[in-house]
Amino acid sequence: MLMLEGKGVTKYFGGLVAVSNVDFNVERGEIVGLIGPNGAGKTTLFNLISAALSTQQGTITFKDIKITGMKPHQICKLGIARTFQSVKIFPNISVMDNVMLGALFGKSSGTSSEVLLKETEEILEFVGLSDIKDVPAKDLTLVNQKRVEVARALATDPELLLLDELMAGLNHTEISETMEMVTRIRDNGITILMIEHVMKAIMSICDRIVVLHHGEIIAEGTPEEVSTSKKVIEVYLGE
Ligand SMILES: Nc1ncnc2c1ncn2[C@@H]1O[C@H](COP(=O)(O)OP(=O)(O)O)[C@@H](O)[C@H]1O
Ligand SMILES: [Mg+2]
Repeated sequence: MLMLEGKGVTKYFGGLVAVSNVDFNVERGEIVGLIGPNGAGKTTLFNLISAALSTQQGTITFKDIKITGMKPHQICKLGIARTFQSVKIFPNISVMDNVMLGALFGKSSGTSSEVLLKETEEILEFVGLSDIKDVPAKDLTLVNQKRVEVARALATDPELLLLDELMAGLNHTEISETMEMVTRIRDNGITILMIEHVMKAIMSICDRIVVLHHGEIIAEGTPEEVSTSKKVIEVYLGE
């Protein structure tokens, strides 16, 4: 079942086209990887989906609802959550409070505080932050700050999760743990669109990969298809 669809999606910054007439789709239950060189337009595409930036041409639909033109909080309530390439957490409040904010503003806002508290505790357990839930977020290591962002996104109760370079800057062990966590999130019924440069992760957990270059999709297919595509090897993967 089609969950997210973009048609002719375009974004200019001044004279520069960052995302150019892009068509894409994500099916419910998939893990889709979005790859491509730096500056390809990957983060811009996430910003258009989540309405952090406005789309200039084209339309994006989520569960058959046109979301282009909507506000970020409306899109969040519909069931799309995201993380950021450079972590954006609230540094001076606790891990728990960071995640609670997601619960308060997300899909199930309006739920009683006991229920929200219980759900937040469960999410902290799920991402492995229970032991440090009272620590100010700024005192965490990078991997744990990234887990806070994932937990906050999950707390909004999304159906689609956008992950922007979640594995960047992590060591081998942390990457393996993160791959396992992403797979568990999908197994819990959440569809995933992830930007990633860590090829090992992309190739082993994605069902499908989309390759962006200069704002255009240059290849799309299974990890096998994409990793053997001449064009992709030429512009991105190298020999
Ligand atoms: N807010 C912005 N204002 C101006 N230019 C931007 C902005 N965001 C991104 N760009 C430009 O758009 C292009 C695509 O950037 P980005 O989407 O961040 O690429 P990626 O995430 O694939 O590395 C780059 O040339 C970048 O400099
Ligand atoms: Mg980016």
